[in-house]
Amino acid sequence: MADNNDINRLWEELEQITSGCHKCPLGSTRTNCVLGCGDRKADIMFVGEAPGENEDLSGIPFVGRAGKLLDKYFEAVGIERDSVYICNILKCRPPQNRDPLPAEEEACIGYLRQQVRLVRPKIIACLGRVSGMKLIDPNLRITKDHGKWVKKGDFWVTVVYHPSYLLRPNAGAREQMLTDMKSIKSKLDELRSEN
Ligand code: URA
Repeated sequence: MADNNDINRLWEELEQITSGCHKCPLGSTRTNCVLGCGDRKADIMFVGEAPGENEDLSGIPFVGRAGKLLDKYFEAVGIERDSVYICNILKCRPPQNRDPLPAEEEACIGYLRQQVRLVRPKIIACLGRVSGMKLIDPNLRITKDHGKWVKKGDFWVTVVYHPSYLLRPNAGAREQMLTDMKSIKSKLDELRSEN
């Protein structure tokens, strides 16, 4: 297995490659490449869709309104934001925050795979439909499938509502989000206690 020096070197390599990436046209419109943030040895990885305006400007995922709402859910269920790793399917902002195109997802997915190999989380939690469709099932329906768990290789994977969706007036989904986030915290505690 790779030692800490190897792992740090691989992270540096990944940062260097992604910050200069032009595999798709978003490379020419971004301000910053948004690779990820948080604990690189986290037991859980949250994967959103793509950076928005605030993320593009700061280079950090989930720092805008959706991120603030996500932070509230972390707090509500007792998860420290610094103890998780957060990233997105796309590392660059799509214009006007439109949905990622399949070609953009394909160009970028190798970077996420490398992040997963380096972090080696126990849980991958997809934030929203786009991430769930890419990482769990292309036919996923968020209203039906949110909160379900699947084992994929070494990882437990789930999908929850995207915080941006919860910013719309939709109290029902907010309650379901709280239930799903509690389920994530329980799974995390359960898997940690197995070690
Ligand atoms: N929405 C996302 O999917 N990711 C971010 O980083 C911010 C908003």
